[in-house]
Amino acid sequence: MSDQATVQAPAVSPMPRIGDPAPSFTATTTQGEITFPADYAGRWVIFFSHPADFTPVCTTEFMTFATMQDDFAALGTDLVGLSVDGLYSHIAWLRTIKERITFRGMADVEVTFPLIDDVGMDVARAYGMIMPGEDSTKAVRAVFVVDPAGVIRAIIYYPLSTGRNFDELKRLVVALQAADALAIATPADWRPGEPVIVPPPGSCGMAKERLEDETVNAVDWFFSTKDVTEQAVMDAIAP
Ligand code: BEZ
Repeated sequence: MSDQATVQAPAVSPMPRIGDPAPSFTATTTQGEITFPADYAGRWVIFFSHPADFTPVCTTEFMTFATMQDDFAALGTDLVGLSVDGLYSHIAWLRTIKERITFRGMADVEVTFPLIDDVGMDVARAYGMIMPGEDSTKAVRAVFVVDPAGVIRAIIYYPLSTGRNFDELKRLVVALQAADALAIATPADWRPGEPVIVPPPGSCGMAKERLEDETVNAVDWFFSTKDVTEQAVMDAIAP
């Protein structure tokens, strides 16, 4: 008998992957109708889901995201939220957040980015945001970073119980933009101003050249870094 693995084709449409075009849809939101990703052509977008309106962890996430919205705008990045609740629930929840909720010094927080009404779960299913093992009637905490060409560049999933780290989402957007603008990669825990990774050489000859290249710090032929100031990163990624 062959020891080759057999893989069953999925019965439902596959989840989008990094490098795929973002599945397109038109939806009702708290800011009017949007067509995604076409309405955001030329912009970066963080498209994210949350489990439900009027829940505490989601409330802290929305307050944090709304408070950081200017930081993301400075990166040419728009925010779009989704849950499988309806429009009037969204409106009532966002009003309650503004009028009544304080959290970590944040108060009177107005959420002005669109929040999608997805009661039919069509968009959530197209993006693999419903994970029945976690909950079949709520979206998990999914994050899709979509680039100006409408291509998915990063995907993060968190379970219902755990609020996301929004500094990490900002770091991720900066790192993606820096990778595009400077043709580099970024190491673990990288922050702008720290050394970046120079892509490894693709041939034996280039490997030898790399070790002799005085413009980079070649730790080994496959592992080279170079210094890029924080200002140079921010200038390179400026929208
Ligand atoms: C919350 O946002 O607090 C939450 C939502 C769904 C399940 C558990 C917690």
